Amino acid sequence: MEPFDLYSPAIDADPFPAYARLREEYPCYWSDSAQLWILSRYDDISRAAQDWESFSSTGGNLIDELPGRAGATLGTTDPPRHDRLRALSMKAFSRKSVEQLVAPTLELADRALDALLAKKHFEFVEDFSSRITVGLLFRLMGLPARDHNDIRRKVILAVSTDKKAKGRTREHIDAFKSLADFLAAEVAERRKTPTDDLINHLAEAEIDGDRLTEREIVMTTATFVMAGVESLSSFMSVFALNLHDFPDARRAVVADAAMLAPAIEESLRFNTSAQRFKRVLARDVELHAKVMRKGDKVALAYGSGNRDRRKFPNPDVYDIERRPQGHLGFGAGKHFCLGSQMARLATQTAMRRFLERIPDFHLTNGGIAWNSSSNFRSPVALHMAAGKG
Ligand code: HEM
Repeated sequence: MEPFDLYSPAIDADPFPAYARLREEYPCYWSDSAQLWILSRYDDISRAAQDWESFSSTGGNLIDELPGRAGATLGTTDPPRHDRLRALSMKAFSRKSVEQLVAPTLELADRALDALLAKKHFEFVEDFSSRITVGLLFRLMGLPARDHNDIRRKVILAVSTDKKAKGRTREHIDAFKSLADFLAAEVAERRKTPTDDLINHLAEAEIDGDRLTEREIVMTTATFVMAGVESLSSFMSVFALNLHDFPDARRAVVADAAMLAPAIEESLRFNTSAQRFKRVLARDVELHAKVMRKGDKVALAYGSGNRDRRKFPNPDVYDIERRPQGHLGFGAGKHFCLGSQMARLATQTAMRRFLERIPDFHLTNGGIAWNSSSNFRSPVALHMAAGKG
């Protein structure tokens, strides 16, 4: 049996023991079943993420890439094109525009909490985290409000993997196409009637004297929707689960809201929702006596680097006092998460409100199913009720 089988359902539920084995025994590991290298130690991942000239993103950063993305968007280009695309997008994610999302987050959180507290049981992902993230993302991007369940379902399908087929199925690709079609219609609309929002900035902007193509605008917008909705909603859910699993941490955060920020940082280290991203080698690279060849795929296992004892002492202990510097929960290097400030602020704001109104909660059905994905780790659903179990 492989020490790390990316396509085993067990890896979605708990990748951490297998990561530990890779770090100690196979730090530069060729996976036959996934046909890629896996880097698992903090220093190696961090160095590879900085070295975009060797570890290129132009072949896509999703391990099972989606049609049309490679080479067209932020996560799938290298400098210098990436730098310009990123500078353009940064405008929408400036500290000021992100801070303007606090009031809408509170409003969305209160509305979600009113509805879920009216029920005996609730489902955290559908009733809270995805409702807030889809609402916020769509507002930030100037997209018309949509059924959050429909959007989340499509996004989840688009980033899911069929473990048996070792890749995407028709259903996954169709969900992505339907999302892209909806965004393409929005882009076309902006061309007719320009508005002051992110999509329009992308449509109007010039890079190297050229306008972005329709495909680049749609794929960049789709990246924001997928990264925002999947990573943020999943991370909020994982954070809620950590507060459930570690009641001392929950009590500390409830007693002092200032502890929310360090608790979020520790959860980003302990179990980030964005576990692994892909690069393709632009040249041969030798590491730990293995030669990785130009053209080979490499997975940077951020979630494993965050548990490396060489960087973080007692890495498997969840400690909200840790304040982990340089964790890889948002990646590293040129592709460091563009939405990190927004993700931190939205999680902090939404969860502060959640804990004010529901300081104690429990899971109502013990087992948790995890989404099937080669990049991300997130619970399919978290069935909960307020109060002690
Ligand atoms: C807690 C929630 C989030 C986590 C854990 C997360 C994690 C990550 C990670 C690890 C990367 C690096 C990908 C790589 O190395 O190829 C990344 C990139 C990115 N993230 Fe996030 N993300 C989160 C929320 C968001 C949000 C809310 C947005 C905003 C819409 C966003 C937008 C992006 C974009 C655009 C990139 C690509 C940046 C680039 O390539 O220059 N993320 N994210």
